[in-house]
Amino acid sequence: MAKIAVLGYGVVGSGTVEVFYKNKESLERKAGQELDIKYILDLRDFPDSPYQDKFVKDFDVILNDDEVTVVAEVIGGLKPAFDYVKSALKAGKSVVTSNKEMVAAKGAELLETAKEHKVNFFFEASVGGGIPIIKPLHACLSANEIDEIAGILNGTTNFILTKMIRDGMGFDEALKIAQELGYAERNPSADVDGHDACRKICILASLAFGKHVYPDSVHTEGITKITLEDVEYCDSYDAKIKLIGCAKRENEDKISIGVFPAIIKNESQLAGVNDVFNAILVRGDATGDVVFYGKGAGKLPTASAVVSDIISAVKHSDTSLSLRWRDSEQDFIRGFGEFRCAHYIRLRANSVDVTKAVVKALFGHVEYLSAKKQPENELAFVTGVISEKEADDACAKAADGAEILGRIRVLDY
Ligand code: HSE
Repeated sequence: MAKIAVLGYGVVGSGTVEVFYKNKESLERKAGQELDIKYILDLRDFPDSPYQDKFVKDFDVILNDDEVTVVAEVIGGLKPAFDYVKSALKAGKSVVTSNKEMVAAKGAELLETAKEHKVNFFFEASVGGGIPIIKPLHACLSANEIDEIAGILNGTTNFILTKMIRDGMGFDEALKIAQELGYAERNPSADVDGHDACRKICILASLAFGKHVYPDSVHTEGITKITLEDVEYCDSYDAKIKLIGCAKRENEDKISIGVFPAIIKNESQLAGVNDVFNAILVRGDATGDVVFYGKGAGKLPTASAVVSDIISAVKHSDTSLSLRWRDSEQDFIRGFGEFRCAHYIRLRANSVDVTKAVVKALFGHVEYLSAKKQPENELAFVTGVISEKEADDACAKAADGAEILGRIRVLDY
């Protein structure tokens, strides 16, 4: 019989307990042994819960109980989660977690601690909610060198962008609905400013390229500057705006990585990913493109990944050697100024003819877009592929006779 402790009884924690007891019989069959949740750690009281006898407020009760072999950490954040996880691993307990902030900040260290103590540290739920991506990346795709990963990694922002694009709904109203549905982080800035997607692409890039990528090393932008006007121009370009996290192997053993809103042509598989769904495209040197798609946030999809990791941890007591990366200086990350792609630029011109001539001189051939209620003095266009630095310099020069109203990168997946 394997005994499990669940740390945190919020959205994901209560979902984990729910999925566990709903499917207990089949989980035991898959684990090859009886299973039970012995403890649920939470500082709050849940007087109406059917699991009254399992609640504890003191983590040491769990830590000092040798019967507990697997700990599921679903509290989120670094404090106190990191201390709990580190001491559980040191005490010889495997840990599974949905905590992307902790894995992105401390993954290399925790994987090392797990190895030292011959236990497992699994985090399938930290990226893509219910979508299997961590295990496919290090196990099923292990024959490949991964050349590139690009994904819609945040359900809340994808939900907001979908509401803006499909229903013309304003940003604040769409965010409020995402919060009510339990998709958003406690502080929604983590979603809308891109930090959550950044943590997730850091985890994927660390695993794919073998060196820890820290969130501070990643150029990160959110969706707060996207307007309904941009959405309309993109419509005429047969494209959608999505918050994308991407990481790519470059030559000289470097990678480029970033999180930002991007315009994606409708024919791309990523453009059709709506609402709370996430999709992650992995480009392997043998497989070519493989796309993983499913619900990227929410109670039960995320709980599904946590419970699956619990079963894996029960079945495999020794450290998984393929789920690894090492700590690293960040010098393998190429400066974002060298990132190359096309750019959508929207500007208000003092004189349309003069500005068009300036645009031609600065950017060469561009494709002009249109919108239904386009003001006479407004221009929107898509450039050819240029570096970030070239785009910055050209925009600074264009701003002399025009006001830049918007700039969004255009990606080709
Ligand atoms: N707030 C996150 C999202 C939850 O919206 O994707 C899942 O990580």
